[in-house]
Amino acid sequence: MKRLLDLADLGREEVLALLELARRLETRPEPHALAGKILGLLFLNPSLRTLASFQAGMARLGGNSFVITPGQGTWQLETRLGAVMSGAAAEHVREGIPVLASYCDALGLRAFADGKDLAADLAETSFNAMASLVDKPLINLESATSHPCQALADWKTMDDLGVPRGGRFVLSWAYHPRALPLAVPATAVHMAALRGMEVIVLRPEGFALPPPVMEKARRAAALSGGSVRETAERDDALSGAHIVYAKEWGATSCYGDAAADGRLRGELGHWCVRNDWFARAAEDCRLMHCLPVRRNVAVADEVLDSPRSIVQREAYNRLTVQMAVLYRMLKGI
Ligand code: CP
Repeated sequence: MKRLLDLADLGREEVLALLELARRLETRPEPHALAGKILGLLFLNPSLRTLASFQAGMARLGGNSFVITPGQGTWQLETRLGAVMSGAAAEHVREGIPVLASYCDALGLRAFADGKDLAADLAETSFNAMASLVDKPLINLESATSHPCQALADWKTMDDLGVPRGGRFVLSWAYHPRALPLAVPATAVHMAALRGMEVIVLRPEGFALPPPVMEKARRAAALSGGSVRETAERDDALSGAHIVYAKEWGATSCYGDAAADGRLRGELGHWCVRNDWFARAAEDCRLMHCLPVRRNVAVADEVLDSPRSIVQREAYNRLTVQMAVLYRMLKGI
């Protein structure tokens, strides 16, 4: 494996093999497997889990890592092509990224959506331009529309807990005071479809996932025996659900227009996941969220603090699946 930029870079069989490797490394640790290897981590946006789990995973495999968060002890980086750099950024990614890549054996890059032009974000224009500067193995730590490591962790979490392969997976929009990117919802529907699940996207009007995102998930479902549909009807979606995957994202009907998005979401404060959402769900229906989550805004305490919530296990599995990715990438087996 040379690059992990999107879950679609891996076939279903490759995902299953990676998850098997993750389980093997969990039960039979290999603390010297990556001795002498260095992972560089470049975060253009904040992180808790991704940053800490990659550093911990590299250390647990005997390797080392360094983290760059531009503007926090290192130069601010300019990402715009053709920019006249008379502002705060002292260095352009066109120099900065190849320099960092030259110091390490693999590089991880986090660069969220610009959030202005939906077509450009769906095409991963900005992330791909930066990825083209890297001549080493590269891991997407979350881009405009993709978060493959989160998807692998979520898949393994469902396997760990015996969530049925063909179970009902409801990706539900959840309230947040402002528009958040599409990376996690887009990757979650693709992941669940590839796992063979009955995927339902539950969202208010104006927040439909973009057609290319739904099409990609439907293609994955066709390969795996799953299905994908969307609805705004909560009872319809949640009836018999095995998973409610809560996630906040921006209005796609007015993408990039913060004022219009704000008017739409202003009426949607009741899209906070509460216990009564589970009234008609499967008895052992679980609550998933990639974290961070705003308590009592996106998901209520009563759900996050209940046995339904598996958010901690998802976060833990970031470590296990990323160790498998690093092992494949840097050991080559
Ligand atoms: N889920 C996730 O990627 O968390 P962080 O943003 O904290 O890395």
